[in-house]
Amino acid sequence: MSTEPRIAVCPGSYDPITNGHIDIITRASKLFDEVIVAVVNASVRKSKALFTAERRIDFIEEATAHLDNVRAEPFDVLLVDFAHQKGAVAIVKGLRAISDFEYETEMTQLNRHLASDLESVFIMASPQYSFLSSSGVKELAIFGGDVSELVPKHVEGPLKEALAR
Ligand code: PNS
Repeated sequence: MSTEPRIAVCPGSYDPITNGHIDIITRASKLFDEVIVAVVNASVRKSKALFTAERRIDFIEEATAHLDNVRAEPFDVLLVDFAHQKGAVAIVKGLRAISDFEYETEMTQLNRHLASDLESVFIMASPQYSFLSSSGVKELAIFGGDVSELVPKHVEGPLKEALAR
């Protein structure tokens, strides 16, 4: 057995991080020696993020400060290239519903086509987060819905502020 640390990347937009993301990251941190939360920072993407990558990373770092083997970093290259640069052995993603399964199947096959050495690992969302997404949270918050149980406390204020603008 290799003694190299087993590193996983947990990629996403995290715009912003939700309690559902924290659930997946926490569980991944128990399976791997190191978890790098990889935050998409790509201007080529169709929709503009609400928060800058720096802000999204700050939110993640505060939310995961108690997890010693977790850190957050931006990336703007192919996910598999980023994973290789970091020496990762796996890409970890959360799965909520059948719709995620369809999208993630496609992404997994594409990533596997590019890098067959990287394993994609899926963690099923805990039931209480099976409906939760960053876009859903933003939609609720825009119309004044209560998001206090869906995002960390330190995200709730900035989220309301950003959406009010
Ligand atoms: O659904 P999300 O949170 O926007 O997912 C982002 C990500 C990077 C996990 C998803 O787009 C993906 O799996 N992409 C693989 C293809 C790739 O490498 N894209 C480059 C992104 S900079």
